[in-house]
Amino acid sequence: TIAFLNGQYLPLDEARISPMDRGFLFGDGIYEVIPSYGGKAVGLAAHLERMNNGLAELEIKNPYRDQEYQQIISTLILRNKSKLASDNIGVYLHVSRGTDTKRFHAYPKHITATIFAFAFEISPPPPADRKLVKGLKVSLCEDLRWHRCHIKSTALLGNVMHFEHGQRQGNQETILYNRERQVTEASSSNVFVVDNGVIRTPPLDNQLLPGITRKLALESFKREGLVFSESVVTVRELLNAQEVWLTSSSKEISPVIEVDGHKVGSGRPGPVWERAIQAYNKYKFS
Ligand code: PDD
Repeated sequence: TIAFLNGQYLPLDEARISPMDRGFLFGDGIYEVIPSYGGKAVGLAAHLERMNNGLAELEIKNPYRDQEYQQIISTLILRNKSKLASDNIGVYLHVSRGTDTKRFHAYPKHITATIFAFAFEISPPPPADRKLVKGLKVSLCEDLRWHRCHIKSTALLGNVMHFEHGQRQGNQETILYNRERQVTEASSSNVFVVDNGVIRTPPLDNQLLPGITRKLALESFKREGLVFSESVVTVRELLNAQEVWLTSSSKEISPVIEVDGHKVGSGRPGPVWERAIQAYNKYKFS
C-alpha cells in the first residue's frame, strides 16, 4: 500500500524513520485512526480537532493545517482503494515530536514533527440487526495506565498490556475501572451501558479518551430522541446493566454479551443497541 511520510507518498515498506525519532524512543507523539466507508470519512473534523488539542497540550508544533491533513487522508483513501480488498479503509495518522541527535527527555526546541500516515482495510459496519450480530466478550480489570488518558498518545504500552490480558482470557477487549471501582473505558474503546432503560457512558475527564465514535453516537442519540446521560458508571452497575456496548472508530457501536464471564442481560445483543446503531448510521456521515 501507499503511505505518507514527511511530505512524500511512497510504498509503505519503503518508509524509513530514524531510531532517534522521539516517537520511537519515548512514545512522544499523537495519533488518530480515521475510518472511511465507500470513500467517505467518518468524523474527520472531530478527529483533526482532537489531534490538534493533543499536539497543543504536548507543545508539539503542528507543521500542517487541517486542510493539508484532509488532503493526505483523502489521497491515501483514493490511492489505496485498488490495493485493498474493499473500500472500507482506515487511515492511521501519526505526528511525533520529531527526530533529535541525542536522547534527552526535555522537549528539544529546534526539531520538526514527523508526520506519518498509512491506510489499511477495516471491517464493514455490522448489520444493524441484533439477530445477525454476535456481540463481544470482554475481560474486566483495574485501570493501571496513567492519569492523562484524554491524550491520544502513541505511548500505548499500558493499553497494549490491558488488551493482551483480554486476549489471553479468550476475550476481544478489556473494560477498565479505577480505584473507586468506577468504569473508565476499555483498552481501545469507550464504554456504554443501558441501565433501567437509560443509555449511560462515563463523563469525559483525564481517565478516558474523548472518543469520536462516543461523541458522534451521543449527538445521534440527541437527534433521534434516545435518552442518555454522561454519568459515573460503577462496576456493580456495569455487571447489572441490561446492555453493554463498546464504541471506537473500528467497532462503531458494538454490543457486549459477556463481561468477565458474566452474561450481560439475556446474553444477546439488546433492543436499545439496535436503536442506537440505527441512529448512529443515520448520522455518521453528516
Ligand atoms: N482506539 N479509548 C481508547 C483507549 C482508544 O484507544 C480508542 C480508539 C477509543 C475510541 O476512540 P474513537 O471512537 O475516537 O476511535 C477509546 C483506536 C481506534 C486505536 O487505537 O486503534
